[in-house]
Amino acid sequence: MTNSPNALVHVATQQGLGYPAQMKTVCGIDFGTSNSTIAVVQGGKTVLVPVEGTHTTIPSAIFYPADGQAPLYGRAATAAYTTGEAGRLMRSLKSILGSDLISEKTAAGGQFRTFESILVGFLSDLKDKAERFCGATLDEVVMGRPVHFVDGNDAVDARAEVKLGEIAREAGFRTIAFQFEPIAAALSFEHTLRTHERVFISDIGGGTADFSIVEVGPERRLRADRAGDILANDGIRVGGTNLDMRLSMAAVMPHLGSRAKTLKGRELPRWPFVDLATWHRIHTIATQANFMTLRQILNDCAEPELFQRYVDVVKAGSGHAIAGRVEQAKIDLSHTEEVTIDLTGAIAGLTVDASTALFETAIAGELERLGDAICATVAASAQPAEAITTVFLTGGTSAVPAVKRLLSELLPRAKAIEGDLFNSVGFGLALEAERRFAQKKAA
Ligand SMILES: Nc1ncnc2c1ncn2[C@@H]1O[C@H](COP(=O)(O)OP(=O)(O)OP(=O)(O)O)[C@@H](O)[C@H]1O
Ligand SMILES: [Mg+2]
Repeated sequence: MTNSPNALVHVATQQGLGYPAQMKTVCGIDFGTSNSTIAVVQGGKTVLVPVEGTHTTIPSAIFYPADGQAPLYGRAATAAYTTGEAGRLMRSLKSILGSDLISEKTAAGGQFRTFESILVGFLSDLKDKAERFCGATLDEVVMGRPVHFVDGNDAVDARAEVKLGEIAREAGFRTIAFQFEPIAAALSFEHTLRTHERVFISDIGGGTADFSIVEVGPERRLRADRAGDILANDGIRVGGTNLDMRLSMAAVMPHLGSRAKTLKGRELPRWPFVDLATWHRIHTIATQANFMTLRQILNDCAEPELFQRYVDVVKAGSGHAIAGRVEQAKIDLSHTEEVTIDLTGAIAGLTVDASTALFETAIAGELERLGDAICATVAASAQPAEAITTVFLTGGTSAVPAVKRLLSELLPRAKAIEGDLFNSVGFGLALEAERRFAQKKAA
């Protein structure tokens, strides 16, 4: 396994010229917190695989039916949950790669399984779909990885990459390499270029924000060693799921008892609400031990009717339904100033209003952390911000207007180019796979 990606490397210069038939088919996988893609290189062509119907993206969602049937993935998984099928939905599992949770067992589909084995199933499904699509076995893969899976702990960060590599191996890949997600996005961008650019790549997805400053251009693609073209890489664990959590805490959770008082006039504990508002923690709430704690909190409430809603939501397993409504509201707030969040499917009679102003106040801390990380990336490049000619935006959270504003304030001279927010990284990872693997002859 090749670890520690540190080079933007020679890319697919043979693109479109066609490889001899014996060239291997190789792939790149962008396993995202919210969405995943797989792209293959075959016969010199790089193609994103349609992984769910005609979609080249698949939500990183897994549903285990209660009756023990095979798990469902992607939109099919969320649809099964939304239509009330009995079973368990899991989302945003990439967020637990760096934590001990990854090796813990959880009840799903009538069995206890590790989260790790659940992710093996998800990656195997992607691999199978890509192999059927291209009619070839895929042994080699370049996996994307955020610059940091976790903040401020290099040992845990390294463990997360090793774990992802083990999961890919279990899924059937024989040779696994890694590349930083923003460098993969840089390769995608470079693929479209006719001129030289010094580009600031901003990849802000569901779980992490990743930044790179890279020299790109048609003449550079030919070079064997690109390490000198990477001026800086940095990243933090802030993404769209954090923004969902903040919006939920600001707009929705007060209607379920957050900020309500106990009989003694203290505020209720915060953690139950944070857990219910955080995608990758929702499935951890409904345990026997937690239900006892929740009952104690309920008995201690000055206004039990609000927290009773919380208990009902957890009992009914409606946490993901609420999170889904909040996420949609956040997405809508990228285009409109006011939204109504309809929660009646989970809580009788409850609709909640939210505005861009409320959202931007709620995410002020995240915006500040993003700003600091952008500045730190520029500082690490040892070049002035004015020397950056272009900002390439990718990742779904780049669509948030406050995020775009932040980038244009901090990099005022650079022109902003919005890439394909959801496919750039996967495509670039396949370009990287071509460089690393496809040029060797198939055995
Ligand atoms: N129009 C939009 N406005 C705001 N947020 C959006 C929009 N569209 C998608 N998002 C958010 O973008 C995030 C998903 O983006 P993306 O698919 O790039 O993430 P990912 O690659 O799965 O995550 P990561 O790279 O962090 O592991 C989600 O939080 C989603 O709610
Ligand atoms: Mg991503």
